[in-house]
Amino acid sequence: MESMYKEALILDELDELSSYRSKFFSGDEKLIYLDGNSLGRLPVESKAILERSVIIEWGERLIRSWNEEWFTKNIELGDKIAMIAGASEGEVIVTDTTSVNLYKLAHAALKFKEGRRRIVTDELNFPSDLYILQGLVKDFGEGYELVVVSSRDGMTIDTGDLKGKIDGNTALVSLSHVAFKSAFRYNMKEITALAHEKGAMVLWDLSHSIGAVPGELNESNADLAVGCTYKYLNGGPGSPAFLYVRKDLQDKLSSPIWGWFGEKNPFDFELKYRPGEGIRRFLAGTPPILSLKAIEPTLDMLNEAGMDKIRKKSVSQSEFLLRLAEGFLWPLGFQPGSPLDPEKRGSHVSLRHPEAYRICKALIDPDIGETVVIPDFREPDNIRLGITPLYTTYTEIFTAVREIRKTVEDNLFLRYSSEREQVT
Ligand SMILES: Cc1ncc(COP(=O)(O)O)c(C=O)c1O
Repeated sequence: MESMYKEALILDELDELSSYRSKFFSGDEKLIYLDGNSLGRLPVESKAILERSVIIEWGERLIRSWNEEWFTKNIELGDKIAMIAGASEGEVIVTDTTSVNLYKLAHAALKFKEGRRRIVTDELNFPSDLYILQGLVKDFGEGYELVVVSSRDGMTIDTGDLKGKIDGNTALVSLSHVAFKSAFRYNMKEITALAHEKGAMVLWDLSHSIGAVPGELNESNADLAVGCTYKYLNGGPGSPAFLYVRKDLQDKLSSPIWGWFGEKNPFDFELKYRPGEGIRRFLAGTPPILSLKAIEPTLDMLNEAGMDKIRKKSVSQSEFLLRLAEGFLWPLGFQPGSPLDPEKRGSHVSLRHPEAYRICKALIDPDIGETVVIPDFREPDNIRLGITPLYTTYTEIFTAVREIRKTVEDNLFLRYSSEREQVT
């Protein structure tokens, strides 16, 4: 293990993104945080912005801040996300939650493709996405169906299997770009083209790829997308999500929620709804300004660093982690829970072990081991390790694997109950 520790030190030395780490708040320098794929760290600048927004914009400027600063924020942030997602100006807006945005866009697609009654998704997709699609099928009624493509290995989806389900009756293909458990990554260009060949639209959930994988929305000619901002975009707990609608589709689609912020001019207070111009028509109500503002610093960091460099480091760190796992964890009964080919993976790596839950409890417990390591547990047996290139170091990855190994070798996990907490 010693030689890999030395390698980690050298790789950290050579890391061209290393200066970004100090731009994130850390209450505990010893904490190894590998959960940026669930809730990213707090950027120092976000803390400052929130303080300024509360004290000056809300406290002093009050209602005047809407014109001075707030009203256009969701469009401005949308344009910054567009650069990260490979989309164009005016194609992305920050609003609502991922679930609500998925509902709005899937509903709009079903209306636009009236006559077609099939939605295709897969069983690796996030449950909330599946619930929303189930609800839409129920509400649209007679003849509508949701086809859920199975995974052959529990980690990936076979392109042929997916292709076999997209037919001339398919209105919408709704998929996660990167799967939340296994990190399986679809080839966005290939799948979008497949769906388009059959006349179907595609709606991508970018929650687990935005900010970690270079965006390809325009390059893929993708129709629609949604995603959250609290993972690799470090927007904070419950920060608003975003949605993307390709430019040429914006005026053809209608949001199912005709709220005033999506109206042509909310402050005309017209009694009859007129859809807003472009992407704005997909807004509903008043945006949560404080939460919106916390997102901006990471968008600026990612655009400054460049998504190619972010991806390069993400792949290099994931490969380093997998080499450590091969040497020190597979022999202890762990198994890969993510594809081993980086082309087929996002920016997290899942390790499977029958005692995954109790291992995670031991890693997080400050009274066990030399450091606190925070991973994610995902049912039934996944330890998810999220790599966030803006702040994760190679030495942290090394230490995390060393701690995982020790937890199993010394049976430290046996001290914990398997009973699940409310949030895992
Ligand atoms: C892939 C994916 N889609 C959707 C969601 C749900 O997001 P929200 O709670 O913002 O609706 C999540 C939440 O983690 C997610 O990971």
